[in-house]
Amino acid sequence: MRRKDDRQRKTGSEKPELTRRDFLKGAGVTVSGGLLVGSTVASAAPPGPAAGFVGPGAVPVTLRINGKAHKLNLEPRVTLLDALRDHLDITGSKKVCDRATCGACTVMLDRKPVYACTVLAIEAEGHNITTIEGLAKDDKLTPVMEAFVEHDAQQCGFCTPGFVMACTAYLERDHHPTVEEIDKNLGGNICRCGTYRGIRHAVLQAAGVKGGANGNL
Ligand code: FES
Ligand code: FES
Repeated sequence: MRRKDDRQRKTGSEKPELTRRDFLKGAGVTVSGGLLVGSTVASAAPPGPAAGFVGPGAVPVTLRINGKAHKLNLEPRVTLLDALRDHLDITGSKKVCDRATCGACTVMLDRKPVYACTVLAIEAEGHNITTIEGLAKDDKLTPVMEAFVEHDAQQCGFCTPGFVMACTAYLERDHHPTVEEIDKNLGGNICRCGTYRGIRHAVLQAAGVKGGANGNL
């Protein structure tokens, strides 16, 4: 009590000062706002029904992934990526930077590409989550996947699931891509092996751009 009064006196305000501890206590359990994948990485994912103050202990969370509901008990700090990989053994989305820089963890939230490492699992509740495991149906590769294989758009393959997700989401909103637009819209994903040429070819082929897939990109 005495410490609180001291804080009030120091600021000269009637309102008690918000300490760093108070701030962290609150900030730690509110929704974070995930980052959308792309060249302009800025917008926040819409909070799910779990928005607000919860935790810090585990809370029930239901995640709808690739059309199937998964019931989990997770601490609110758990990211969607960790929930997928560590709690559900859905490991196609890769953990590389874990800080919204590389795109290896890209998944779709209501068909929008997001970095799963920057979305809290509780934020993803109430949304349709699509991972790389959910794209191919009945063992049939999607046109983007086939084009990646055909154009050798991977080497070590670590970035590939994220790129396939980002390319798929991109082609759902742009059916007539140009090379410049491909580079701009896939700017949120990084390939350390430098397979960008193959990826450009693959996107053009998957989009059915005539002649583009065979040119020198
Ligand atoms: S692991 Fe998520 S952006 Fe790199
Ligand atoms: S294929 Fe190795 S990081 Fe892209």
